[in-house]
Amino acid sequence: MTFTEELHKRKTFGIIAHPDAGKTTLTEKLLLFGGAIQTAGAVKSNKIKKATTSDFMEIEKQRGISVATSVMTFHYRDKLINILDTPGHKDFAEDTYRTLTAVDSVIIVVDSVKGVEEQTRKLMEVCAMRKTPVIVFVNKLDREGRDPFDLLDEVEKELHIRTRPLTWPINRGSLFKGVYDLANKSLNLFKASTTRVADDVVAISDLNDPYVDQHCGKTDADKLREDVEMIEGVYDPFDREEYLKGNLAPVFFGSAVNSFGIQEMLDTFVDIAPTPQGRESDKRFIEPEEPKMTGFIFKIHANLDPKHRDRIAFMRIVSGKFERGKYYHHVRLEKDFRFSTPVTFMASDKNIVDEAYPGDVVGLYDTGNFKIADVLTEGEDFQIRGIPAFSPEIFKELINTDPMKAKQLEKGISQLTDEGVAQLFTQQPGNRKFVGTVGELQFEVIQYRLLHEYGASCRFQPISMTRACWLRAKDPQKLEEFIRFKQTSIVNDKDGNIVYLAPSDWFLKMERENNPDIEFHFNSEFKTERNDAMGYVPYGK
Ligand code: G4P
Repeated sequence: MTFTEELHKRKTFGIIAHPDAGKTTLTEKLLLFGGAIQTAGAVKSNKIKKATTSDFMEIEKQRGISVATSVMTFHYRDKLINILDTPGHKDFAEDTYRTLTAVDSVIIVVDSVKGVEEQTRKLMEVCAMRKTPVIVFVNKLDREGRDPFDLLDEVEKELHIRTRPLTWPINRGSLFKGVYDLANKSLNLFKASTTRVADDVVAISDLNDPYVDQHCGKTDADKLREDVEMIEGVYDPFDREEYLKGNLAPVFFGSAVNSFGIQEMLDTFVDIAPTPQGRESDKRFIEPEEPKMTGFIFKIHANLDPKHRDRIAFMRIVSGKFERGKYYHHVRLEKDFRFSTPVTFMASDKNIVDEAYPGDVVGLYDTGNFKIADVLTEGEDFQIRGIPAFSPEIFKELINTDPMKAKQLEKGISQLTDEGVAQLFTQQPGNRKFVGTVGELQFEVIQYRLLHEYGASCRFQPISMTRACWLRAKDPQKLEEFIRFKQTSIVNDKDGNIVYLAPSDWFLKMERENNPDIEFHFNSEFKTERNDAMGYVPYGK
């Protein structure tokens, strides 16, 4: 197979959902459809079901499971599909944000009973920043859910995206009859079954076919005709270009646990989802077709075995062909590395891989050389853009409780924050260290890992900061003045960028009004012309 054929064969996407909407179930069903697994139950949920903060090993074990299921590959029709798993637990949302930088499209699962929930809203903001194409799967139609038109309205309003239903449910809950495929004019009748793979799809010439009345009952058949007339009247025909630009989300209805309504979505996904896309760098756009290999690290996972401090760095290939054993240039460290045992992931198995193509994710064993957003090339120097750090939501000061172990603590916190589990901010003078996360759980995980992996004991002291803003000003003097004036709230991130920690949104608003010459950015990648072109939304817009 030629390089171009390999490239066009691939689709790399992520599934996002609020916990419990059915992400794990849908993932599993997709793998069943693709023949990657044979039985239901093979995909373990990486959900941290117990939100207790005391059982760290449990958390780590569950995070461990998420490594095995981090990337799942399956074949469907003539395509090779990579699903990048995203942790559902909100305290690991940072991981999810990063993973979204490595996908080319997403499927959003919405629970038909609960509608759009908080976590989905937040993750969609990240997709919107990058204009990631989105397909919506409305799940749990076998339950007494909400009116489908209301759900579409809610998706449009809450997720700020236009929708276009491509299937339509016939009643719901205990009266759920199935879905009507608007494009193919076929009826898929519902039978509750958690094991089936193929659907009973019947093509009908038009909705007035008596078959519809026979199988759905006159009331539901009439309602379906009415709904479909309304849809065709209100919505424009589906426009793939608009979908690819991230402006329009096709919507499917079904029941993941019953493997129902998934095939329609999967077939459409294979037809419309983008092939591996290039990425913007600080120098130029990297096209996937380029012969030279480029890849970036979007996730780092620690080894669970404390005797081996090695980690797995997950690299998304952007261009060219990756080959095992070949030397690649680590741009940040200005050193060349070769990888003798790169791995790919297959349900719960890891396999050594000899070559990989754009859209693929390879796991590289790492002894501490990688941090999130690092780039490997065949010699060229650039940074891939679009992998910013976002403002954490909770900030605490790191206090060393064992002065004899200051070095271990320093090294430990530096390595753990390289993994992306939290962000580290340092204040000078004084070398005070602040750690920012998106969830309380992270602090306890960090404290536990510092002690067990680095022998360093610490505690976290709450501070009254709620938001990090990366600062920039056209006039360096103005920035210096602001820094001097706000010294106690100014810190540096790990790359040396100047960051202002704000005690509240109200305070931040005031500072912005009082300091019109200072730019406050909500992520570490400042607004540039390139970011504009990529659709970055500046703060306040
Ligand atoms: P998540 O990964 O998004 O957190 O959700 P997950 O797939 O684990 O699904 C959450 C719960 O919703 C599970 O039940 C799952 O069986 C159920 N579920 C998924 N799809 C459907 C559906 O179409 N209809 C109905 N009625 N339920 C669905 P659970 O009781 O939490 O777990 P389990 O014991 O059934 O595995």
